[in-house]
Amino acid sequence: MNYFGGDWTRQKIEIVVDYAKAYLTIMNKYPQFKTLYFDGFAGSGSIVKDEIEIIKGAAIRVLEIDYPKTFDTYYFVEKSDSNKELLQEEIESKFSDRNYFIVNEDCNQKLNSMASFLKKHTNVRVLAFIDPFGMSVNWTSISCLKNLGVDLWILVPTGIGVNRLLNNDGNIPDEWFVKLEKFLGISRDEIRSRFYKEVKTVDLFGDSVSMAIKETNCVQKINDLYRERLLTIFKYASEAFVLRNSTNSIMYHFMMATNNKSAFKIANDIIKPKFKL
Ligand SMILES: C[S@@+](CC[C@H](N)C(=O)[O-])C[C@H]1O[C@@H](n2cnc3c(N)ncnc32)[C@H](O)[C@@H]1O
Repeated sequence: MNYFGGDWTRQKIEIVVDYAKAYLTIMNKYPQFKTLYFDGFAGSGSIVKDEIEIIKGAAIRVLEIDYPKTFDTYYFVEKSDSNKELLQEEIESKFSDRNYFIVNEDCNQKLNSMASFLKKHTNVRVLAFIDPFGMSVNWTSISCLKNLGVDLWILVPTGIGVNRLLNNDGNIPDEWFVKLEKFLGISRDEIRSRFYKEVKTVDLFGDSVSMAIKETNCVQKINDLYRERLLTIFKYASEAFVLRNSTNSIMYHFMMATNNKSAFKIANDIIKPKFKL
């Protein structure tokens, strides 16, 4: 079961659904392409609060879109057995006519297999939604999508994930550095230089010492870095929709990367009015 985290839970789903509708409207004009919806963290199909379903998950909302066309194929990845079973039951009961696959695996593996598949099937175009709780998507899983026909919506845990591993004093434990390197795909020296400044000072006995001080506005800087990283793989990356918790702290940045200029423009057009939510 997936639980309601806050308004951001609803907001990211609305963005993906709006984009999927626009995507299918455009792709309907290009019947030579086969469309695939890839949901890497598909969930259980519904989102509950106090044991009551309050919203449908993105998987179900995207399956509900049938005008002007449905996706030719739906591919759902869900690592939890129980969530996968719940999603499967719901899809079987309501959308049995669709061409869908639900796999109980890790999204990283499936992004890699999808990339190999797309290299062989060049007429397939993908709308991918990557909706993890934390830093579970490795950079190598994103970089394998280079030069492919994928529009990628990705939830980046800037505030809730990366920023929490960047200690104020720069004294980052080795395992946190490994996690940061895997997630961002850059070395720890680069991470240090992006988020810390070295300050020279003197200690109590007059010896010169250098200390690391964390940059200000780091959450925004993490967003800028991730967008910059996406731009090494895709031609365009949208502005980010900022998802905040009830105390107004930034949890995630949600953005879209693509090789298609029109898709990029549509993503920005969808995100911008939602800034006022
Ligand atoms: C934030 S929820 C997804 C919610 C879903 N997008 C929706 O709209 O209902 C994340 C889901 O990903 C699953 N998950 C966690 N790690 C995963 C991984 N490495 N690969 C695939 N699924 C994973 C969790 O079990 C959970 O159901």
